[in-house]
Amino acid sequence: MTQSIGIARAHTNIALIKYWGKRDKELFLPMNSSLSLTLDAFYTDTKVVFDTELTADSFSLNQKEQSEKEIEKISRFLNLFREYIGEKRFARVESLNFVPTAAGLASSASAFAALALATASALQLDLSMEQLSTFARRGSGSSTRSLFGGFVEWEMGTCSEDSLARPIDPADWDLAMLVLAVDTSQKKVASREGMDHTVATSPFYQAWVDTAKADLAAIKKAIAERDFDKVGQIAEHNGMKMHATTLSANPPFTYWNAGSLLAQEAVRQVRQDLGVSAYMTMDAGPNVKVLCRASDVDKLVGALSQHFPADKIITSLPGKGASQLTEADWQASLERFGAGGQL
Ligand code: ADP
Ligand code: DP6
Repeated sequence: MTQSIGIARAHTNIALIKYWGKRDKELFLPMNSSLSLTLDAFYTDTKVVFDTELTADSFSLNQKEQSEKEIEKISRFLNLFREYIGEKRFARVESLNFVPTAAGLASSASAFAALALATASALQLDLSMEQLSTFARRGSGSSTRSLFGGFVEWEMGTCSEDSLARPIDPADWDLAMLVLAVDTSQKKVASREGMDHTVATSPFYQAWVDTAKADLAAIKKAIAERDFDKVGQIAEHNGMKMHATTLSANPPFTYWNAGSLLAQEAVRQVRQDLGVSAYMTMDAGPNVKVLCRASDVDKLVGALSQHFPADKIITSLPGKGASQLTEADWQASLERFGAGGQL
C-alpha cells in the first residue's frame, strides 16, 4: 500500500485542576495529576497521509504551510508512532483549528489529540484511547485529556506507559463554560516555557504540587456528588494558585493583562448581582473561562454583556471525546473553515 490516510477530530479541554510543570521534559511526565472539562465549541480537525512517494514530512495549519520548526515538532511526534511499528514512510499533515492558535484556549490540546488519533487510524493501530493518550501526551501534555469527553483526569503515573488520561464523568448535568475572549492573539510566553521557568525558579512551586493533590481528590468527590458549587470553588482556587506561581517566578511574569482583570471583576460583580454561581479559571493566556450551569447561561451572558463586549463571550457546553472523520467530513470542514468557521 503506498498511501494510508487517517482523519480525526478532537475538542479542546480546559483544566479545572491544572497541569503546571514537568518532572520529565523528554517524556512529558507531569509533576501533578490534573483534571479537565472537554468543550464542544472548540476543536481541531487533522488529516494525516503516509505516502511512499513523499521524501519528507510536511505540515499545513489553517491552510498555511508551516515553518521548519513547526514541521520538526510534527516529525518528532510522528516518529513516536513510526518507531512503535517500524513505519518508514513520511507523511503529509493538514490541520484546521476551530479554536484560536496559541492564545491560551488550548489549541495544542485538541491539536495533538487529533493528530494522535488520525495517525493511529492511518496506521491501523489497535490502541485503546487510554494508550493513545500516552502518545498524545508527548506532543503536548494537556492533549492527553482531549481524547475523552466530559470530565477527564490525567493520572500523573509512574512512567511513560501509565501517565494517561481516563474519563471521570460525562459532565451531562447542566454544565457550561463561557469564554471571555480578552485577547485571542498569540501569547508571548508558551505554556511550555512558562511552566519550566516556574518549576525552576518559584519558591512557591512546591506548595503548588503539594496542594494540587488535595484539590484533585476534593474535586473528584465533588464531581461524584454533582456538587456544582464545590467543583467551581475548588477549580477557581486551583487556577489562582497556578497563576500565583508565575508571579513568584524569577524573573516574575504573568499571563494576565489589564483586560483579564476587568473580565474577572465583571464575573465577580455579576455573580454578586444575580446571586448565580459562576467560577473562573485561566490558563497560559489572558482569557477568562467561567464554569457555570447551562441553565444559567442566558442570564449570565446578559449580565456580563453589561461589562464585557457581548461578541467576545463564547458559550460552550461539555464536549465529546476524539473521533475519526470520513473524507466527506473533512471536505465539509474545509468548507466551514473557508467560510470563516474558524474563530
Ligand atoms: P494553546 O494555548 O493554544 O494550547 P500553546 O502555546 O500551548 O497554546 O500551543 C500552541 C502550539 O501548539 C502552536 O504554536 C503549535 O506549535 C501547536 N499547534 C497548535 N495547533 C496545532 C495543530 N492543529 N496541529 C499541530 N500543532 C498545533
Ligand atoms: C495552563 O499542555 O500546553 O493550560 O505539555 O508543554 O505542551 P506542554 O504544555 P501544555 O500546558 C497546559 C497548561 C495549562 C494547564 C492545563 O491545561 O492543565
